[in-house]
Parts: sequence; structure tokens; C-alpha cells
Amino acid sequence: MGLKPALTGIAYLAGKGISLKRRGLINLEAKKKMNGQHPTTDGGRRTWVKERPVIELVDVSCGYDHSPVFEKVDLNIYQGQFAGIVGPTGSGKTTLLKVILGLVKPLHGTVTVLGQPVQGKAPPFIGYVPQLESVDWDFPVTVEQVVMMGRYREMGILPWPNSRDRRLVSELLERLGLTAYAKRQIRNLSGGQQQRVFLARALIGNPKLILLDEPTAGVDLKTQHDILHLLTEVNLKGVTILLTTHDLNAIAAHLPWVICFNQRVIAQGAPEEIFTTEVLRQTYNSEMMVIKQGPLTLIANSALVLKSHE
Ligand SMILES: Nc1ncnc2c1ncn2[C@@H]1O[C@H](COP(=O)(O)OP(=O)(O)O)[C@@H](O)[C@H]1O
Ligand SMILES: [Mg+2]
Repeated sequence: MGLKPALTGIAYLAGKGISLKRRGLINLEAKKKMNGQHPTTDGGRRTWVKERPVIELVDVSCGYDHSPVFEKVDLNIYQGQFAGIVGPTGSGKTTLLKVILGLVKPLHGTVTVLGQPVQGKAPPFIGYVPQLESVDWDFPVTVEQVVMMGRYREMGILPWPNSRDRRLVSELLERLGLTAYAKRQIRNLSGGQQQRVFLARALIGNPKLILLDEPTAGVDLKTQHDILHLLTEVNLKGVTILLTTHDLNAIAAHLPWVICFNQRVIAQGAPEEIFTTEVLRQTYNSEMMVIKQGPLTLIANSALVLKSHE
């Protein structure tokens, strides 16, 4: 019983062709990475260069009230990467994104984004899509107002939208299928629509890098697919993407690069290479079963699988 919904999900996503693996990108990427090379996107075509990371964490420790959430984390994300951080609730994924965004100050270590040290304020050229459950939905604001917020950085000292700003907003709403909702209060939309609104807000600032916190949590399977498809399109235009997810089967298994995280980086690489029982045990403190079915990798909690056979 535990396996069936997950299998249905995988089949759905694979059938829609969202897997980057099926495009033959992943094995090559994984091999190149082992040689110290990193992926980048160049005019829509993937090429490989040795270069400085766009996100660089060196010996970073973070915590609240001086009790550490994670310690001594080293992590590099390179131009053009599409990477997912996976780990259980409370493992520090959101905190990791926030330290990159300058929203949480590290207790120790250095964080560099696009070559600039992050010091207490959001780095430029970075878009952020927060976890929906962290948003204050009592705040009355329409869809187009939320998206316009993404233009404020470029508006200069007078934060009044001009006709170009309005045109950009309406073009983006059109592209993301949100035109009909432009004047609606964002709190009255579905989870998937809200995700797209925040993605539009991130994209309108022309980011080089987008960080998304659980972008597929609480949305149905079709919407998960749509969001991943959209992110893949954005990534292929050269935008580096780093997201968090606790969903191993429907999301993480379809990403080109996965970072298993639980208070430290436990492993990183292509999912078919790093999703092993040992890595997952260390990440989730729980016995996981890894099932390979042709090109698909499926992960199930061993305890649940045994119960379903009883
Ligand atoms: N603002 C905060 N103040 C105090 N503790 C926090 C705060 N935010 C998160 N934590 C704690 O830090 C740990 C990591 O949380 P978080 O980064 O949100 O993990 P995840 O996103 O993986 O669920 C948890 O134990 C959480 O309770
Ligand atoms: Mg979180």
C-alpha cells in the first residue's frame, strides 16, 4: 500500500518526460563533476567549464540562540546547476537557504554569493520563493502586487511602478498562466497558484540564482509536475536553481543533483548514485529501501513496506 501511490507518482512524472536523466544529461554531469568540472548553461546549451561557485559556504555553522542547527558545512553550487537539498523536517534545510540569503547570520564561517560575501542583507540577482506555510496570509495583497514587489530593487529611490514594470508583470503573469488571477487576493488562490505567484516575483528581478523552499509541498501531483517543468525551463535559460524538498520519489529522484542534508552534507551527486540505503539511513535516521526499476529509482521506508506485506 505504501508503494502504490509513490509508484503512481513516479510513473506520472516519468510519463510526462520531466526526468532530466532521460535527456541523457545526468550521467555525463555526474562524471564531469567527479573530474572537478561543473555544469553551466551557455545560450541554452550545456557546456562544461571550471569556474568559481555561485554559492560558496566555507566552514559555516548556524543556529538560533547559539544552539547549533548545523556546523562546519562546506558547500559549492555552480553556475547552471539545478540542485535539491533533501533531508527530514528539522534537519536545517530552511536555515541553510536563509544563511545564503543573508536572513540568518552564520555563527561561524563565510558565505559567498556570486563572488560577494553575504553580510546581513540579501545578495543581488537572487530570487527567493519561501515555504508557503511561512507566509503571512492575513496581509491583503493581490497577485500583481506580489509580483511587482520583485521589481522594487530595480526601481531606484522612487518605488513607483512605471509602464515598463507593469508590462513586465503582465507578461510574466501570462507566461505562468496567472493572468486571470491578477487582481485576486493571493490568499484566495490554491497552493499551486500561490507557488507560481512567488516564482513570478522571483523571476521578474532577472535573477541569476533562485532559491525555493519546498516549492512542491502541499500541491497535487499535476501541479508538482508543472512547477518542476517550469523550473527546468528556467534552468535551461541559465538560471541556477537550488530548492529544498522532503519528497524523495516525486521530486528529488528527478533532479540532476541532490544534496542529502541533516545538520551536515551527508552526500551529494546524481540521485541514482547517492540514493543508497546507507546514505538514506544517515540522512533520515531510518531504514529505507532503494528499489531500482529500469531507469527509475524508488525509495520506500522499509518499515512501511514490511507492514504492507503482512
Ligand atoms: N527562528 C527560529 N528560532 C529558533 N529555532 C529555529 C528557528 N527556525 C528554525 N529553528 C530550529 O532549527 C532547526 C532547523 O530548522 P529548519 O532549518 O526550519 O529545518 P527544515 O527546513 O529542514 O525543516 C529546527 O530544530 C527548528 O526548530
Ligand atoms: Mg524547512
